[in-house]
Amino acid sequence: MADTTKNTIIRDFRSMSFYQIWIRSFADGNGDGIGDLIGVYDKLDYIKSLGVDGIWFSPLYPSPNADFGYDISDYYDIHPDYGDLDLFKKVLKGAHDRGLKILMDLVVNHTSDEHKWFLESKKSRDNAYSDYYIWKDPKIVKGKKCPPNNWDSLFEGKAWEYVPERDQYYLHIFARKQPDLNMDNPVVRQEVKKIMRFWLSMGVDGFREDVITFISKHPDLPDGNPFIPIANGMPFYKDGPKIQEYLREFRDVCLEYGALQIGEAPMTTVETALLYITGKERTLDMMFHFDHMMADCFLTEYIHRDFNLVKLKSAFSKWQTRLLGKGWNALYLENHDHPRIISRYGDEKNFWRESGTALAACYLFQQGTPFIYQGQEIGMTNISLSSIDKYIDVSSKNNYNNFHTNWPKAKRLKRIMDSSRDSSRTPMQWNSDKYAGFSSVKPWFYINHNYKTVNVEAEEKDPDSILNFYKKCLAIRKENKGLIYGRYFEHFHFSKKLYVYTRRYKNERYLIMISFSNIEEKIKVPKGYDLNEMELLISNYKDTDSIDFYANLRPYEVRVFKNK
Ligand code: NOJ
Repeated sequence: MADTTKNTIIRDFRSMSFYQIWIRSFADGNGDGIGDLIGVYDKLDYIKSLGVDGIWFSPLYPSPNADFGYDISDYYDIHPDYGDLDLFKKVLKGAHDRGLKILMDLVVNHTSDEHKWFLESKKSRDNAYSDYYIWKDPKIVKGKKCPPNNWDSLFEGKAWEYVPERDQYYLHIFARKQPDLNMDNPVVRQEVKKIMRFWLSMGVDGFREDVITFISKHPDLPDGNPFIPIANGMPFYKDGPKIQEYLREFRDVCLEYGALQIGEAPMTTVETALLYITGKERTLDMMFHFDHMMADCFLTEYIHRDFNLVKLKSAFSKWQTRLLGKGWNALYLENHDHPRIISRYGDEKNFWRESGTALAACYLFQQGTPFIYQGQEIGMTNISLSSIDKYIDVSSKNNYNNFHTNWPKAKRLKRIMDSSRDSSRTPMQWNSDKYAGFSSVKPWFYINHNYKTVNVEAEEKDPDSILNFYKKCLAIRKENKGLIYGRYFEHFHFSKKLYVYTRRYKNERYLIMISFSNIEEKIKVPKGYDLNEMELLISNYKDTDSIDFYANLRPYEVRVFKNK
């Protein structure tokens, strides 16, 4: 049994913050155009310099990359593009030596169809792996073989694929190359626990658990409502009947090591999340929900809309208030599944720096553990590719090919430009050299044209950069307990231009004011707060020494105050 006294992450995660690495586009250390672990090792000091406490790695494992690592073909190794286990151990040690924790992605709702379990499973109905996946007989309709139910896959057409060798269909909630594991099979759960122990005993500090709320399916797999676009069937695989039981088993493994568990929970509600993250008996420490990712869209980009600040504030405030004293928030604005936040909720054209810093302040001072996605800290923005063939993400292609097919081509492409996950997967912009300092050769994917100005080297030198603002915010959060533990209140909820919130902790008072406007706005100060009695902790405008605290807020201005 592991020595639990060693890992304090399970106790300390509330005051920590994390940096997410999507390795393929982070830093190429061996000159083949693909990001890798040598690149990560070389950048550990940079990551430490941000002031974060750990790294979450999106999958590093061998994978045919139908979904860039989220289709795993071997849970016990590192993808040869990124290095090998020895190199991983070197990175792990390098991180630990710097006081950085390491979280791995645990993807066990599905495997790759090239995983040896699936290759065996699909051969026959009676081999050692035949029950590792969700297989069903065809439904016979008018003498024809049809899928067992009407569910849609989230990534590629229908959720079932026929395999002649078994004369059966297998379930894939995501792409065809991502067959869903049968978690009701106790042997599969043993496999999951074995995988967890393998990485935890190596010294990994915890897991981000991919679509973990999907692992327990309704036993009857009933038909869903076909009028629900994209997610037909979801009520029968999200938060299924055995979910808590299975997570309890995985939790016990993590507790042996004092390891952290964060569950990804698409479409979850705050009420449901509380069932997972409340109290000592909780099955997860935190959850990534999607509510605040829908302030400019409907049903995760099924339809794109103008950014709506009130919608964003509603989502933030709901989670902040409902979790208070019961659970702990995982805070994020970007990850590898969403386009860049400045391009969505900010103004990348006219107020790139101001809106990038405003967005940082809008979430880093909330109650929860912040996650920062590679490139977010320098204000990277979306790419616009000229044709759908240039996009490589399986879900972007699905969105283009299967929805709104009656729209004109240009409008369909614009929808993908607004929503594609490819926008957050372009190579990291380290400097203004050829290939943005990401690699010495042509990178595997397009670099954003703005790398000459938007890059780490330039922003490190500029005291007013987005990068330095992130660093300052993280340092301020560390120094002020009230910004970690304080109670959150939102003010002026119906303002379409300002986001104002306060935090209170013992006798500490904080006031965070953020303008989301591209013109000057009259300041609004909550009752009981006298700005002249407070000190300004941080702002994203320069003249803070001379400014009248009651002056109008300038475009995307941030002012964060603390009582004296
Ligand atoms: C969520 C991951 O974050 C995403 O990248 C992936 O495509 C799906 N789960 C399927 O694994």
